[in-house]
Amino acid sequence: MSPSRPTWVAGNWKMQGSLAGNAALVTALKAGLPKALKGEIVLCAPYPYLEQVARLLSGSEMTLGAQDVSAHAAGAFTGEVSAAMLADFGCRYVLVGHSERRQLHGEADPMVAEKFGAALQSGLRPVLCLGETLSEREAGQTEKVVIRQMEAVLALHGVAAFQNAILAYEPVWAIGTGRVAAPEEAEAVHRTLRERLAAEDNAIAAGLRIVYGGSVKADNAPSLFNQPNIDGGLIGGASLKAEDFLAICRAANF
Ligand code: 13P
Repeated sequence: MSPSRPTWVAGNWKMQGSLAGNAALVTALKAGLPKALKGEIVLCAPYPYLEQVARLLSGSEMTLGAQDVSAHAAGAFTGEVSAAMLADFGCRYVLVGHSERRQLHGEADPMVAEKFGAALQSGLRPVLCLGETLSEREAGQTEKVVIRQMEAVLALHGVAAFQNAILAYEPVWAIGTGRVAAPEEAEAVHRTLRERLAAEDNAIAAGLRIVYGGSVKADNAPSLFNQPNIDGGLIGGASLKAEDFLAICRAANF
């Protein structure tokens, strides 16, 4: 973490939760966190629970996020949810290009870039998820892959669009596997992304939050967050248990 950038930590609940479970989780998080937060803590709930979680979050500085968004503004797109709808329900952030969307739902770079733009259009902040697969890492392609994923957005929206965005580096091989990237490994990728963006605009690159996701737990969070270019985390499994998520937030100095 660097003192020049506010820390950002989000819980991505994925397709998990229930009315009763969400209420217990958010209540415990509110009780365990200080009222005034030094950075941002975001809860990315499944669509049907957004209204409930927004209500539960009242009186807290934690904010609401969603896990995906349509690339389209409105129309005949059965099953999709627009950025304006998410904004209507109080979302401030939305994940775009999560590896599970890329791998299981065939979302390629151009669609992810469109979703990024749709989020911005409605005043949401996109969280652009990037990351290589295990075979790409083993083939020495890591930097090439994440730069390509970021450049798809740069090409469509320009560097200014990153002023209101978050980058989340999530190596696919680390997601839900218990196999976390070594802090130096993750730091090297974050630095590469920041340097690529700095070639377009130094100030935007310096201010951009780049967070790490993939098997972050209370015990490995401190060494990850100690790296100068790791500005927080995107937490999956460990965001579902209040004690675990609170410990990670504490490691991020909340
Ligand atoms: P895990 O923390 O469960 O590995 O998930 C990471 C993730 O995909 C967050 O978006």
